[in-house]
Amino acid sequence: MGGGITQVCSQSGYPVLVSEINDELLQKGLAGIKSSLDRGVQRGRLTPPDRDAALARIRGTTDIGEFGDCDLVIEAAVENLDLKKKIFGQIDKVCPRHTILATNTSCLSVIEIASATKREDRVLGMHFFNPVPAMKLLEIARTTATSDETFNTAKSFGQSLGKTIVIAQDSPGFIVNRLMVPQILGAIRLVESGAATKEDIDTGMTLGLNIPLGPLALADFIGLDTVLAMAGVIYKKLGDTQYDPPQLLKNMVAAGRLGRKTGRGFFEYK
Ligand SMILES: NC(=O)c1ccc[n+]([C@@H]2O[C@H](COP(=O)([O-])OP(=O)(O)OC[C@H]3O[C@@H](n4cnc5c(N)ncnc54)[C@H](O)[C@@H]3O)[C@@H](O)[C@H]2O)c1
Repeated sequence: MGGGITQVCSQSGYPVLVSEINDELLQKGLAGIKSSLDRGVQRGRLTPPDRDAALARIRGTTDIGEFGDCDLVIEAAVENLDLKKKIFGQIDKVCPRHTILATNTSCLSVIEIASATKREDRVLGMHFFNPVPAMKLLEIARTTATSDETFNTAKSFGQSLGKTIVIAQDSPGFIVNRLMVPQILGAIRLVESGAATKEDIDTGMTLGLNIPLGPLALADFIGLDTVLAMAGVIYKKLGDTQYDPPQLLKNMVAAGRLGRKTGRGFFEYK
């Protein structure tokens, strides 16, 4: 998600400083952005000079201490509340008072993340969708503390990226994941119960509902660890059993079968 957000911001003309936890992952991420832009050129969606200009606007670092000149920081680390709070606490110390801090969290509490800072009025959720360059939607989640100025700036920024904005309260799963997670978990429970094969579940859903990906392929695409984290967080908050993660999902994550990013989830990927 971090790579996709970086690409879209840079293609929209913004200089972007992107941070990874080590140089190897940083180089991998930057190479991923370059391949994505190269594919855009091959498909005629952008010109080689536009690709080169977008790449030139991106600078990588492994030190978030360098974020002191940023007006907006969008965090896209793994879905873990303690980690996100730690990152926000660090960024809060580095960035000037006017900087807006946004989290791309899928379903953690934005106000809990904001509580790690001394600028709760300048924190909000900016939830992009995967793959970021292709997906038109941006959910903005404002907390009880988010100021109108922060909200309006984030909204204008999102629109300048060409995204359509929907606004959600700071509630578990916002709009889309709140409705999507039960469908994915329901499909996994069908596999568990032997009611149908994974192939037939996905074929049934794609052709029956005229959607591009079945729920199991979608789970692989999102990452099964992320799906498990989302389900766990929403279940803990709401106590609604439709969000209770199925054992099969837990087992697959424990086995490192995380979907596309590891080459194997419900389906196999080359
Ligand atoms: N995958 C999706 O479809 C999707 C969609 C919308 C939002 N999100 C959210 O975006 C965020 C990232 O998800 P992703 O799918 O890109 O996950 P990912 O596993 O692909 O990437 C996670 C990133 O976190 C970094 N990271 C790992 N440990 C860290 C640490 N200790 N400190 C700092 N950074 C660390 C990794 O280096 C990597 O850059 C999550 O909050 C997720 O819920 C994901």
